[in-house]
Amino acid sequence: MGLDLGSQVVKAVEITLEGPEPVVTGFARVEIPPGGDRVQALAEVFKQGKFRSKQVVTSVSGQNVVVRYVNMPKMSENELRQAIRMEADRYVPFELAETTLDCQPLKRKTQKTGDEGAPANGDTMSVLLVACRTQTLEEQIQQVNSQGLSTVAIDVDAFALANAWELCGLPEEELEEAKTEKTEERAIALIDIGATRTSINVLCGGETCFSREIGIGGHDMTQAVARRLGVELFEAEAIKRNPQGQEVEVNRAIQPVLEDLTSEISLSLDYVEHHEGLRVEELLLSGGGVLVQGAQSYIEQATARTTRSWNPLEGLRIAVDRVDVEELEAWAPSLVVAVGLASRVRSS
Ligand SMILES: Nc1ncnc2c1ncn2[C@@H]1O[C@H](COP(=O)(O)OP(=O)(O)OP(=O)(O)O)[C@@H](O)[C@H]1O
Ligand SMILES: [Mg+2]
Repeated sequence: MGLDLGSQVVKAVEITLEGPEPVVTGFARVEIPPGGDRVQALAEVFKQGKFRSKQVVTSVSGQNVVVRYVNMPKMSENELRQAIRMEADRYVPFELAETTLDCQPLKRKTQKTGDEGAPANGDTMSVLLVACRTQTLEEQIQQVNSQGLSTVAIDVDAFALANAWELCGLPEEELEEAKTEKTEERAIALIDIGATRTSINVLCGGETCFSREIGIGGHDMTQAVARRLGVELFEAEAIKRNPQGQEVEVNRAIQPVLEDLTSEISLSLDYVEHHEGLRVEELLLSGGGVLVQGAQSYIEQATARTTRSWNPLEGLRIAVDRVDVEELEAWAPSLVVAVGLASRVRSS
């Protein structure tokens, strides 16, 4: 079960392997009301979802997580795990004793500019370093345990996007091709616009080469609508989703937020293109924030790149006897993180 503990919506998607085929066998989403409690929403999700699995994969994001791309001398994975603890001091802003670290050597060549660590040459490798405050992880594990479930892995939102893309974003042969040298310069950006933040993960040759979080999301649009129309937040939320005659006012309110968000996205794309010497050809948008009227076309036009809203369930079989398909499809773009987390069933 992939459990996405979003800041506004708790979402869970259960994927079961039937032979080699991943099948969606459970789904639930519960919104946390303003001032409401996430643990309560979590309990409600498990009640609604009637999941069979007790194995949960969840994720972290936000200020308690740090992701870095670091050049290191070539070494074995075991040696790397030892070395990274020493290196981490330079990159991680938290007290190391209270921090959990993980790392992964990447296939890409080390970069001469931009990346941190040793100067890039033939004897260096690029390493993805992730650090998270241990307390954040423990709290999350405790919340899952309190529901009688166990946490088998904790990912980062941005990387869950990549797992969802691997699961269903490309047909098998295209994926193989994407991993070969000749398409190494082809890149796509996975962009998840949540309530409070937007996660970006740029993949080149099927592997992450850049990730970032921007602290702008759907909640900022709701606040802008509330200010412009002089209404309470809960009312603004409803009007934003269904403007009914107030489209012009709503669009005017959210436009500056979309502009700010898109300019941050563009900065990231420019950086990664310059740094990696590639072109990001396509943007795949997800998260509840893309459901806002006009968001996709605005981002497409402002970034001058092919942009589409991403349904992570495309090509996946759904157990219609266990899942409300209409509800699932309606919220599909906001389920990418949960699907990516659940996709780990393939490697369990
Ligand atoms: N129909 C809709 N039109 C516009 N916005 C919508 C619609 N439905 C949901 N949203 C917005 O989507 C956002 C919630 O999306 P999502 O579930 O991806 O957030 P989250 O994962 O809880 O947040 P975060 O990732 O920032 O922690 C809210 O800001 C909500 O207003
Ligand atoms: Mg989210």
